[in-house]
Amino acid sequence: MIVAIDGPAASGKGTLARSLASELSFAYMDTGKLYRRVALIVVSNGGSVDNESDCLEAIKSIDLLNDQGQKLYLEEIGLAASKLASIPIVRKELLGYQRFFSKNPGKGYLGAILDGRDIGTIVCPDADKKIYVTADFEVRVNRRLKELKAKGEKVIESEINKDMLNRDKRDFERAISPLKPAQDAWILDTSLLNTKEALKFALNYIRYGTR
Ligand code: DC
Repeated sequence: MIVAIDGPAASGKGTLARSLASELSFAYMDTGKLYRRVALIVVSNGGSVDNESDCLEAIKSIDLLNDQGQKLYLEEIGLAASKLASIPIVRKELLGYQRFFSKNPGKGYLGAILDGRDIGTIVCPDADKKIYVTADFEVRVNRRLKELKAKGEKVIESEINKDMLNRDKRDFERAISPLKPAQDAWILDTSLLNTKEALKFALNYIRYGTR
């Protein structure tokens, strides 16, 4: 069984996907991490995330499934990832990893959960269940602020606001695989939900097809 989860930055999709995977004994892939890993290597090598060959070189030089630590989660790496995510050949190179994982979650798992921007539309269009997680813009900005403050990072609200606008614009408006709910996706708005409530609704949807 494959569960596809998509949604914008700070919508709560990652937390939800991780909890669902643990509740259901499914393997979990955070596909944003693949894009972040490539971005981190390009930036560390002094390359440009707008340059196709810098990105391809990075993809070839690294083990994409290996972790590269906390730096992956810096805001600047998220933004850089969203830039290279609009290069068609980069998306093509990363597609195979995601499709393979969805069909081969590994021994002991009952299925696979992937979260990202184009899982229900492009990576796994035949997924058994598709959830599009969303939340109001202000709610997402506040979540990101809280998250960064908890990590001890210095944050300026207006900058987070600007970064989120930029990232949304790129993710929703890019020509290839833009972020949008699949036609058969179930929409879960987490603006007024805590993580436990979101998990309960999503589990009910997966198990019984209803909230
Ligand atoms: O989920 P995230 O914030 O870690 O993702 C970082 C960026 O990677 C996101 O802004 C766009 C890109 N991405 C994508 O284009 N497609 C995916 N399936 C996952 C992430």
